[in-house]
Amino acid sequence: MNRKKIAVIFGGQSSEHIVSCMSAANVIDQINREKYEVLLIGITEEGRWIKTDSVEDIRSGAWKAGKVSAVLSPDATRKAVLLLEDGNVTEVQIDAAFPVLHGLYGEDGTIQGLFELARIPYVGCGVLASAISMDKLYTKIIVDRLGIRQAAYEPVYREELKAMEQVTLRIEGRFAYPVFVKPSNAGSSKGVNKAENRAELEHALREAACHDRKILVEEAIVGREIECAVFGGGTEEVKASGVGEILAAADFYDFEAKYFNEESRTVTDPELPGDAAERVRQAAISVFKAVDGYGLARVDFFVTEGGEVIFNEINTMPGFTAISMYPMLWEARGISKSTLVDMLIQHAMKRYI
Ligand SMILES: Nc1ncnc2c1ncn2[C@@H]1O[C@H](COP(=O)(O)OP(=O)(O)O)[C@@H](O)[C@H]1O
Ligand SMILES: [Mg+2]
Repeated sequence: MNRKKIAVIFGGQSSEHIVSCMSAANVIDQINREKYEVLLIGITEEGRWIKTDSVEDIRSGAWKAGKVSAVLSPDATRKAVLLLEDGNVTEVQIDAAFPVLHGLYGEDGTIQGLFELARIPYVGCGVLASAISMDKLYTKIIVDRLGIRQAAYEPVYREELKAMEQVTLRIEGRFAYPVFVKPSNAGSSKGVNKAENRAELEHALREAACHDRKILVEEAIVGREIECAVFGGGTEEVKASGVGEILAAADFYDFEAKYFNEESRTVTDPELPGDAAERVRQAAISVFKAVDGYGLARVDFFVTEGGEVIFNEINTMPGFTAISMYPMLWEARGISKSTLVDMLIQHAMKRYI
């Protein structure tokens, strides 16, 4: 059989670099090598593209010392990666790309734009869906129209912080403490803080401003954290998995709790009030369609004690680590990780139909 060549791209210039490496190693392990050949390309935190040959080197970080540079050509007549080694260039044609990248420059439409230029099919959301979903403020603006509840929010811009008192008064006029403060464009809880009083609010605003010019201040929602996986789009019907719950081993699901606190747990098909699980599934599909999603996304909600469903955020390249919810939710529906990875690659191939 003629194997298709898949370029798996991982790492990246975002605060979620290390998470991406963990996700990519798991994705690569699940790729059926009888069907697909892989070309592994890591992007360092500085933005250098390096070819690597082994998953072990991705797990250990040794790939960063690799000597072969990779360049994805934007030339649509080539559809190729150029490998540069000691002044020699080798051109490798690829059939699809799988950007297992989280956060800025990977999940935000930038690399998707490069694939579009090259007309290389790729796994996951396109430029628009990626850009909207990465930007929490613009996601809110889109979701506002769907009639799905989300936390009330107030946008704050970095330059406004010069007049900090005006900003804090504006926020205190709208919300009671505690509030959540987050950079509009970030991920993995980087720069997200809960503020219980004015001093904490000022501090949280300054920290969020280190990550992005646009900052969101939100009412604090009291509810369970419920997530739903979505697959499909384009010529394929959009389907939602069952739901899962995050049991964070911290006051909220911060970066440490997400990836390094072994007490944090995830469960699939938790007991929820009434038909809340079904409403989460339907809302996940609506949000995915509203942002023009393609391929996959994990859509995150809060569910209150009374069963109210509140949208939180959508991730267009959800984690694929050993503890990640996206693959786990599909496994709970009888779709193995390797089948899921195959479905994603096959769906990518249909991209330009
Ligand atoms: N409005 C809110 N009310 C209550 N908890 C929140 C709120 N916003 C965020 N959180 C908590 O902070 C975590 C990270 O925020 P989130 O918006 O999901 O950003 P990220 O993109 O970094 O995951 C959430 O998983 C949740 O635990
Ligand atoms: Mg989140």
